[in-house]
Amino acid sequence: MLIKKLRRHRHLLDLARADSGSIHFYLEPIILNELVTEIGGMAQQYNNRTINIETGAEKVIIKADINRLKQVLLNLIDNGVKYSEKEITIKVEKIKETAIIQVSDRGSGIPLAQQNRIFERFYRLDEAKCRNTGGTGLGLSIVKTLVEGMGGKISLRSQLGEGSSFIISFPVYCENLLC
Ligand SMILES: Nc1ncnc2c1ncn2[C@@H]1O[C@H](COP(=O)(O)OP(=O)(O)OP(=O)(O)O)[C@@H](O)[C@H]1O
Ligand SMILES: [Mg+2]
Repeated sequence: MLIKKLRRHRHLLDLARADSGSIHFYLEPIILNELVTEIGGMAQQYNNRTINIETGAEKVIIKADINRLKQVLLNLIDNGVKYSEKEITIKVEKIKETAIIQVSDRGSGIPLAQQNRIFERFYRLDEAKCRNTGGTGLGLSIVKTLVEGMGGKISLRSQLGEGSSFIISFPVYCENLLC
């Protein structure tokens, strides 16, 4: 109960900061392969749920705020845990100059008609069904604000009965102009 209250409080604080344009991002180069492995391992232990990590051998580096990016991933994993019963997969890949992180579950999926509303504040699918999961409907709106605030994009691919994938993309960080 206390954790839920604290989370709601934190969510509201983040939204207030976002509205006033005062979220500060400390951007630094981050090796996504390492970050995702660390967060996936932690979340697997905490939630007692299998979390598969798929990263290739090639390092994928972006410039982002490490704590905010962790917050984004933990929110998406938390949703995967709440709204599905099977394993969750986090995949990192680089396609041309774009770094992509996908957080996927094999839950009941999100109907097409509601897919673009899901990032709105307080929007929850089927309030009655969601009641036991006790969320506030703020997680994804914060995730979107944070991702976009760091220069990334987020989208959703979901199929009813098959599951959902949240896809985050960032420009690959390049130290020299050769990459
Ligand atoms: N992976 C998912 N599979 C199915 N439905 C999802 C998934 N992620 C989010 N949803 C739906 O989108 C709604 C909004 O998600 P969001 O994370 O913003 O809020 P929440 O999980 O209800 O609460 P909070 O994250 O604030 O604790 C959820 O209530 C749920 O109905
Ligand atoms: Mg949530």
